Amino acid sequence: MIQQSNTFILENTQVKDEVVNWVNEVAALCQPKSIHWVDGSQKEYDGLCQYLVKKGTFIPLNPEKRPNSFACFSDPSDVARVEDKTFICSRRKEDAGPTNNWMDPKEMKKVLNSHLEGSMKGRTLYVIPFCMGPLGSSYSRYGVQITDSEYVVVNMRIMTRMGENVLPYIPKKEFVKCLHSVGDPVQTGKPESVWPCNPEVKYISHFPEDRMIISYGSGYGGNALMGKKCFALRIGSVMGREEGWLAEHMLIMGVESPDKQKTYVAAAFPSACGKTNFAMLIPPKEFNGWKITTVGDDIAWIHKAGDGHLFAINPEAGYFGVAPGTNYKTNPNAMESIKSNTIFTNVAITKDKDVWWEGMTEEIPEGLTDWHGQPWDPTSGKPAAHANSRFTAPAYQNPAVDCKWDDPKGVQIDGFIFGGRRSTGVPLVYQSFNWNFGVYLATTMGSETTAAAFGEVGKVRRDPFAMLPFMGYHIGDYVNNWLQFGRNLPNAPRIFGVNWFRKDENGKFLWPGFGDNIRVLIWIVQRLRGQASSVESPLGWMPRYEDLDWTGLESFTKQDFEKIMTIEREPGKQELLGHEELFERMYDKLPKEFFFMRELLLSALWRSPEKWGLQPEL
Ligand code: OXD
Ligand code: MN
Repeated sequence: MIQQSNTFILENTQVKDEVVNWVNEVAALCQPKSIHWVDGSQKEYDGLCQYLVKKGTFIPLNPEKRPNSFACFSDPSDVARVEDKTFICSRRKEDAGPTNNWMDPKEMKKVLNSHLEGSMKGRTLYVIPFCMGPLGSSYSRYGVQITDSEYVVVNMRIMTRMGENVLPYIPKKEFVKCLHSVGDPVQTGKPESVWPCNPEVKYISHFPEDRMIISYGSGYGGNALMGKKCFALRIGSVMGREEGWLAEHMLIMGVESPDKQKTYVAAAFPSACGKTNFAMLIPPKEFNGWKITTVGDDIAWIHKAGDGHLFAINPEAGYFGVAPGTNYKTNPNAMESIKSNTIFTNVAITKDKDVWWEGMTEEIPEGLTDWHGQPWDPTSGKPAAHANSRFTAPAYQNPAVDCKWDDPKGVQIDGFIFGGRRSTGVPLVYQSFNWNFGVYLATTMGSETTAAAFGEVGKVRRDPFAMLPFMGYHIGDYVNNWLQFGRNLPNAPRIFGVNWFRKDENGKFLWPGFGDNIRVLIWIVQRLRGQASSVESPLGWMPRYEDLDWTGLESFTKQDFEKIMTIEREPGKQELLGHEELFERMYDKLPKEFFFMRELLLSALWRSPEKWGLQPEL
């Protein structure tokens, strides 16, 4: 007999039967010792955190330094998203497309059932009703996550709106079923493990037609906090396509000028390219009066409103940010956001029970405990914190959170920015000629892999719309959907490309980045407002040196600017020819326009000087 607690929700809600039936079905399969309906209260959160402390999963941090915050170390096998174990199980293989792993849904369910049978024995099954987006917004969508991990419950409370008050909003038959189990405790031989997971068997499976996700074997954020990548992007992109909106891997930020006018833009950068830093940017002091506000740092849901503009919401309620490299210079707002009520995963711990990671301070504290829970040896050559260690912090703790971040109407998006990590060839900033060229730019966006990401370091990985690991359907359909979306927009947002990562011949970054990115952003915003001029280049519209505000960065000369803006014919050609590989993968669904656009770009390069710069003598 499975014990139930917190049956509050079962009164007065229209989805009662559907949710209860599904929970009962899952319980019969997974055989938990008890079922707990999550109410989302602070009391419940605190109780679960204390339980995790008792179990040894959570280490309470020094309340004087980091109130109500905890650190934990994952199993060493469970530290990142697992792209090779992530599946789109659409009914037809061709709907998943060439960039996704596919498995027949019936087959996958058979496999999963065999793993899930009895997988929650001895554990509690938690039921989490949650909302992606502001509660009650017509742009929000709902889910119910079942999980056997307390770590997941407490992280979901930070990352989503969840609990008792969500269930009455869920429209009938319209919730995404998210089933998560960290894995069979008997199979893994670790029933009492502080970080239960199955080190060998993991499946992150999406069933788009059933609006269902089943995640087995991993307790790590991107695999286990299912509102995030699984729902808000993979299933969300499918829902959006069917319903006429877009689910994108984009930050949303407000840019306020000294005259108090505010313009919102959304930006897509591949993972590990600084989205959170950009979303929380603080301009240098010379830019008094310019202010950046954060609506979201990772995901945007974008809808057409009645007036023909695009409006975006951030479906999330918190930040699941990468810790290493975050400090008071690179991202002061993130540092402020994580001062309390934060969960840290795989960071290092100081002697006085605070957190530390590479790049947090110049001086390395003595007596660190590393992310394996062992005393850290600074001479080991190994980092104290895992490269993908994370903080989970509530959005409202960000001092720069936008006043509309929780507004059910969302914010009007006037521009899109795309940019990868490219050490050569790609200029600091340019504006696409039009929507179609912008879609081309976003589709062919590439980024050099870093140590934190999978694959060979420094290799360009094409990452269309920064969505490669997150697309819930065929990439060709996705790109066509974007083209079509723009065709129907009376006043489509303008599209820009940026590259903060260009290097000189000695491998030194040319651009200071971080707060100085405001200089580029101001030009972008002024273009959107019709207030900045530009010149036409082979790739699009570009600022001249004098179009950017250099106050406080006078050391960055016109020559430096030319270096970072130059378009060189040979590398440019190679880049365009490099798109072929992606085009081949998209195969029969490649938009016809793309052939012509590439030809146009190629011929523009051919007919321009070998080094197209802003000075004729270049
Ligand atoms: C993330 C990612 O964790 O993009 O946000 O990988
Ligand atoms: Mn992301």
